[in-house]
Amino acid sequence: MPLVPPYIESLQPYKPGKPIEEVKREFGLKNVVKLASNENPIGPSPIALEEMKKHFAGLHYYPNGGYDLRMVLARKFNVKFENVITGSGSEGIMSNIIRTFLCDADEVLTTESAFIGFQVLARSRGVKYRTVPYRNWAYDLPAIADQINKNTKIIYLANPNNPTGTIFSKPEFDAFYKKVPERVLIILDEAYFEYAQENPSYPDSMKYRYDNVITLRTFSKVYGLAGIRIGYGFAHEELIGNLLKVKLPFEPSTLAQAAGIGALSDQEFLEKSVRINSAGLKFLTKALRELGMEAVPSQANFVMTVCKSEKDANFIFQELLKRGVIIRPLAAFGLSDCLRISVGTKEENQALAANLKKVLVKLPSVG
Ligand SMILES: Cc1ncc(COP(=O)(O)O)c(C=O)c1O
Repeated sequence: MPLVPPYIESLQPYKPGKPIEEVKREFGLKNVVKLASNENPIGPSPIALEEMKKHFAGLHYYPNGGYDLRMVLARKFNVKFENVITGSGSEGIMSNIIRTFLCDADEVLTTESAFIGFQVLARSRGVKYRTVPYRNWAYDLPAIADQINKNTKIIYLANPNNPTGTIFSKPEFDAFYKKVPERVLIILDEAYFEYAQENPSYPDSMKYRYDNVITLRTFSKVYGLAGIRIGYGFAHEELIGNLLKVKLPFEPSTLAQAAGIGALSDQEFLEKSVRINSAGLKFLTKALRELGMEAVPSQANFVMTVCKSEKDANFIFQELLKRGVIIRPLAAFGLSDCLRISVGTKEENQALAANLKKVLVKLPSVG
């Protein structure tokens, strides 16, 4: 008798981007550039680090379940404490959402090739996972609305989306929301919100505090804190109340909470990160296009390119790796002919462009 259900057995474990040390060892390289996991290339927020230090001496005490950070977030975003949740990254909260709201006959609805972290979590619950194809590499919201049925329980929308970097607009979301029954929970995953918020057509979900909408945000991207695991969410107090029943009591850790509080006060770091990203994104998009590659217009801290074939994508990924540039192949997302490149520092972006130029000349389908 099998020990695990078939829906677990058929899953593939999450494969993170290759670590720098492993690539150095494998190819005997001194310098390696990692543009694979949409991390902040300038490091963590210095105020976050300072705030963490203040808590070292108290680490023999258990954490307080995110209480302090929830207070700070409630004040900053002008909502009630009861409307806020914190967790081990936004994925930690996603995991709680899956466990709290999904029963066996329920279905999840989202786009094809959605953020891999969500795909894995939803599939591990063994419920039906239904997807709708992209339209121009963006969520096809009208088509998703048409696919809602009596079993649809959760709709997952990442805005900006990973891995395509695209957004849906305010009018698109307004029209979509009207077609979603109240019994359906909409997850608005805004992991890349800070990079897109200046775009006037971007629908900031804090302006959409509907009872069936959960907003998820993270400190992993613009605040450079991916390694400490801290994220947060906003929703109706009843939804949050139920999530809190399921959450691990001591999540987030004391240091993660402190980092989050420090980061939120670090406006200077936030602005610097967004500025560097904006210039880097422009550079990478232009560089890809000048090299004859497609660059999907992105509103996040990465850009997706569509290759002529899966073979080309693998070749480019492997050849860049040998030269010490790690990017992200997207086969695991379900896009085997696509590659995702995170925005790095100016020097890292230049290294990518220079190496890519050399690799493309060697591409079998070209040469
Ligand atoms: C769309 C999206 N949501 C969530 C996450 C995960 O964020 P966290 O580190 O807060 O778990 C990522 C990370 O890549 C992401 O791309």
